[in-house]
Amino acid sequence: MRMVDLIHKKRVGEALTEEEITFIIGEYTAGHVPDYQMSAFLMATFLNGMTDEETSFLTLAMAGSGEMIDLSAIAGVKVDKHSTGGVGDKVSLIVAPVVASLGIPVAKMSGRGLGHTGGTLDKLESIPGFQIELSKEAFIEAVNTIKIAIVGQSGNLAPADKKIYALRDVTATVDSIPLIASSIMSKKIASGAEAIVLDVKIGSGAFMKTVEDARVLARTMVDIGTRLNRKTIAMITDMDQPLGREIGNANEIRESIEVLRGTGDKELTEVAISVAAYMAVLGKAFATFDEAHDAVKGIIAQGQALETLRRFIASQGGDARVVDQPELLPTAQFHYEVIAGQTGFVGEIHAEQIGIAAMVLGAGRAKKEDQIDYAVGLTLNKKIGDPVQAGESICTIHANRTDVSEAQAMILDAYKIVPSQPAPKQLIYDVIE
Ligand code: URA
Repeated sequence: MRMVDLIHKKRVGEALTEEEITFIIGEYTAGHVPDYQMSAFLMATFLNGMTDEETSFLTLAMAGSGEMIDLSAIAGVKVDKHSTGGVGDKVSLIVAPVVASLGIPVAKMSGRGLGHTGGTLDKLESIPGFQIELSKEAFIEAVNTIKIAIVGQSGNLAPADKKIYALRDVTATVDSIPLIASSIMSKKIASGAEAIVLDVKIGSGAFMKTVEDARVLARTMVDIGTRLNRKTIAMITDMDQPLGREIGNANEIRESIEVLRGTGDKELTEVAISVAAYMAVLGKAFATFDEAHDAVKGIIAQGQALETLRRFIASQGGDARVVDQPELLPTAQFHYEVIAGQTGFVGEIHAEQIGIAAMVLGAGRAKKEDQIDYAVGLTLNKKIGDPVQAGESICTIHANRTDVSEAQAMILDAYKIVPSQPAPKQLIYDVIE
């Protein structure tokens, strides 16, 4: 088999076989196919797409390019959850203890944040003492005893995806549905998921800008899951403004605790409860979404999810007192208000720009090597639809520096104040099963 022939086949729009796709991924991962040939192949795929069958072959080949995690020593259905990424998206931190409280094992491998989006691992590491590295034995033991452990992804998880993603980034081939779908699903499959709930985000802070594109991506990933025998459900949810009110690592832990206490932001709570309910259905704890939804609300109201969070933090070496004394989390030295210049209603909050403002303060990384400041971030005092008076604070900046003019300008620019109240935003657009 020659790579040039396979590039040609994809260029003229023919479907590749499983053997051909396995060859491309295997040879590229091994360093036998150069980047220029892989780039040509990725562009041909971007332009001509892939059949569902090809996308599944690609997913399996990438999943199998490195370590395939074996979670068979953990009892119960291993349900994972993945968000396509957004700003202020702390849903994993909330659903993990909720689902574990329902007796469903949460054996989660999470990633770090990059660019305007945050990562669950960084947020967890803002808890003093919290360890994201556990031996395989300790990880399995924690999930079997307290039903929950969250660790960093193995460095050898889907290495083909890591290499291909870096190439896509510099060849304008990131936003291809078969490439995104296979990239996400390959990592879930390699990390041992038996069932998957996907939260596909749409809007100004997301990859997908329209519901139509999000539906195609969601359907593609659900079909891959079905073909590969992993029951998959995809929700399409709003990321046209940040989720919840807090952005930044310690801030987002604080806000997650509020949701688990039952006093958190309404929209964030609604998305988290729905994701948890779908996970509970896939974990076979309930037959219907409605039953699971009621149970999830009950687990939160009775304080069981908060208790699981305390146990989870303690079991990974963290200071579980933060759950009842969030002031023990890292706190920024300075606070500055961003003041509205006019009276009206919040019409838009450009999520990506807010994410970049938080990154500029040190809450996120522009480059992989950048250090994070866990204490810094933003509190959105106004969300879309809220009335605003000129002179009122729309956002509080938590900083460990005195010059925040760049972040301040970005935040002001991200907020659009309009004269009349906009229609309420839809939160969950669709669910694809
Ligand atoms: N997230 C991924 O893991 N891969 C993509 O291609 C896009 C988003």
